[in-house]
Amino acid sequence: MKLRKINFINFRNLKDSSIKFNENFNLFHGKNGQGKTSILEAIYFTATGKSFRSNKIQELIKYEKDKCGSYLEYEDRLGKKNISVKFSDRKKEYNFNGKKVNHEEFYGKINAVIFIPEDIELITGSPSIRRKFFDEEISQSNEEYYKLLKNFSKVLKVRNQYLKEKKTKDEIYQVYEEEFIFLASNIIKKRIEYINRISILLNLNYRKIFDDKKELNIKYVSEINYDKKDSLEKIKEKIKNEIKKQVLNEKKYGHSLVGPQRDEFKFLLNEKDSKSFSSQGEKKSIIFSLKLSEIDMIYKEKRENPIFIIDDISSYFDNSRKKNILDYLKNRKIQLFISSTNKLDIDSENFEIKNGEILC
Ligand SMILES: Nc1ncnc2c1ncn2[C@@H]1O[C@H](COP(=O)(O)OP(=O)(O)O)[C@@H](O)[C@H]1O
Ligand SMILES: [Mg+2]
Repeated sequence: MKLRKINFINFRNLKDSSIKFNENFNLFHGKNGQGKTSILEAIYFTATGKSFRSNKIQELIKYEKDKCGSYLEYEDRLGKKNISVKFSDRKKEYNFNGKKVNHEEFYGKINAVIFIPEDIELITGSPSIRRKFFDEEISQSNEEYYKLLKNFSKVLKVRNQYLKEKKTKDEIYQVYEEEFIFLASNIIKKRIEYINRISILLNLNYRKIFDDKKELNIKYVSEINYDKKDSLEKIKEKIKNEIKKQVLNEKKYGHSLVGPQRDEFKFLLNEKDSKSFSSQGEKKSIIFSLKLSEIDMIYKEKRENPIFIIDDISSYFDNSRKKNILDYLKNRKIQLFISSTNKLDIDSENFEIKNGEILC
């Protein structure tokens, strides 16, 4: 997949512009505070409808304005397409090939993988950060998973409400209970499958680029002892049994104590939890390898490379690591959008950003 061109209006500090992209490497360089991250954010926003640095889309609108918008021309395996997002009055409007579409139709048309300094939180942060990350990853290439999650979150809310109000004898509660177990087991099954697959790729990438003497794995962690090979039926049965065990506690605390909302993911470097044991440098390398594995997974699912966005590459890696990484991405023919405070010694289209303006 290649992005050809972007247009944006009223986006952060950026001057309204149109940028034509190089099909390989695009470098946005300039001093701090000029708008480099904002350009990457505009690209990501148009591709996914989201920002990677804020949950409040309102913040993307240029100060003093009341709406913003962006438009992308791109090409995938099947040909040229365009997509756009407008944001005003707290609402997003999506267009695909000139026609209005809803979020579900829009999402996943362009696959984007992103690497930002804050990603280190995927290791150091709370379990909910990892859950959110993996849920989004799986959803990107698996629409069914996205729907399962959406339904699960509704059913979980209702189930919790019933537990809180101590109405578990209600007939309707039993219906929710069935649905809860059905959705929970399907989500867990898909997560375990995904973890099994990405873990192999992660180890390969880490060893290839960073350290061939170590073994890196991801483990699915739960109160319930799931096995990699558990069938859907087996998972269902384990959840049912655990709910039986927890029934009194669930009533006592008034919320669900079993299910994917409580589970967690761990990065194990040489079998040790990297949250507690890995160095800062190793953590960065683990997350970067994870992003490369995400690219591999998307390629396997869609037969197409996602675009790859790297914010502030210089703050991550020394020159020799940087060269390794960029050579690797070049060979893979991945379209790259990177920002850096200095020019890099690479074959790329260079855009200098000064005061929100793009100087070529
Ligand atoms: N909504 C907004 N409207 C106008 N300017 C903004 C908005 N949000 C952030 N800025 C400003 O945009 C500037 C550029 O930010 P950023 O893209 O993070 O710079 P860089 O990545 O080049 O360091 C910052 O000075 C910031 O204060
Ligand atoms: Mg920046």
